[in-house]
Amino acid sequence: MNKTLIVSRELCEQLLTLEDCIPSMRDTLIAASKNEIKMLQRMMIPHDSGNMLAIMPASLLSTNVTGSKVIIFPGPQAKKDRTNQGIVPLFDTESGALLSIVDGEVITVIRTAATSAAATDVLARKDASSVAIMGAGNQGRAHARAMKLIRDIKKVYIWDMFPAAVDAAIEALKPAMPGVELIPCGSPEEAVKDADIVCTVTSTKGDAPFLKGEWLKEGSHVNAVGACSGSAREIETSVVKRARVFYDWEEASMRDAGDLVIPLNKGEIKKEDLIGEIGKVMTGELVGRENDSQVTLFETIGISVEDIAAAQLIYEKAKAQGLGVAVEI
Ligand SMILES: NC(=O)c1ccc[n+]([C@@H]2O[C@H](COP(=O)([O-])OP(=O)(O)OC[C@H]3O[C@@H](n4cnc5c(N)ncnc54)[C@H](O)[C@@H]3O)[C@@H](O)[C@H]2O)c1
Repeated sequence: MNKTLIVSRELCEQLLTLEDCIPSMRDTLIAASKNEIKMLQRMMIPHDSGNMLAIMPASLLSTNVTGSKVIIFPGPQAKKDRTNQGIVPLFDTESGALLSIVDGEVITVIRTAATSAAATDVLARKDASSVAIMGAGNQGRAHARAMKLIRDIKKVYIWDMFPAAVDAAIEALKPAMPGVELIPCGSPEEAVKDADIVCTVTSTKGDAPFLKGEWLKEGSHVNAVGACSGSAREIETSVVKRARVFYDWEEASMRDAGDLVIPLNKGEIKKEDLIGEIGKVMTGELVGRENDSQVTLFETIGISVEDIAAAQLIYEKAKAQGLGVAVEI
């Protein structure tokens, strides 16, 4: 019987770097848009505590791996120190062997920021030098670092509904972003008005968007990341209307991207107004940004094939370096 490599959260933090994950997510988004994957939409089991079990299965055909992220989306009663506990079991599609079980929490943070960075790299202006982070949690910090890897970022504006979260994010980012000005902001408008790249990464759950289209700087690019259900929104319809709009996976976006689904259902925008999947921009099938004054939007809810690709990256690195614990399950 084959052994299964268990890779802990601590080891995943060491092995899954944004530097490696950005090109991997680019390849994955391309594979998704070329149908070189098999993927089901996210399934969720809600509980009275507010915690939801999410199951996200997918297969990568080019590398013969399959698996599923199994993770808790936390409700108010979840433990505050570990908000997104989960795992990704990774199988060899041909042999059926369970190759590895990898922590899912680190994957969620890093692959999401890496996906936004891969999309930003093809949509943002080449001279973009400032970022607005709206929502100063785990994703906010990872997005600030990821944007610095694809553009020469000099300023990061940070806003959150809790000023203490902004201060904590600035303290955490200082050592990772030397030479970058980290600027606390008291309002969403203050954060975005001079920003070339805007990342909305709050944990908002309702239809109470905080970003207005008229506040955005000419030529800016927006990554809308935080609202991941059909009933939640971070950005007003005015943002969608002002922008050339792309998303990660059409099928899932039309169900779970409230930023698009809500204005579509209200008749405020039409499906034909949206351009298409970001992977098709990466292959050259779709045109991304058309000029330097256009506003672009990447709407992402996160797709399971990203988790499988990240799990494979971790597994291959751990195996090559003799790390992790091999067990007979
Ligand atoms: N698109 C994807 O692929 C993807 C992947 C993972 C997580 N997410 C989503 O990203 C969001 C952030 O995740 P996280 O791990 O950083 O969470 P987190 O709890 O670490 O941080 C969220 C931050 O948002 C702030 N916030 C919440 N509501 C706000 C509002 N209305 N206005 C301003 N600030 C607000 C909170 O104060 C907190 O600081 C979650 O909603 C999560 O579901 C998306």
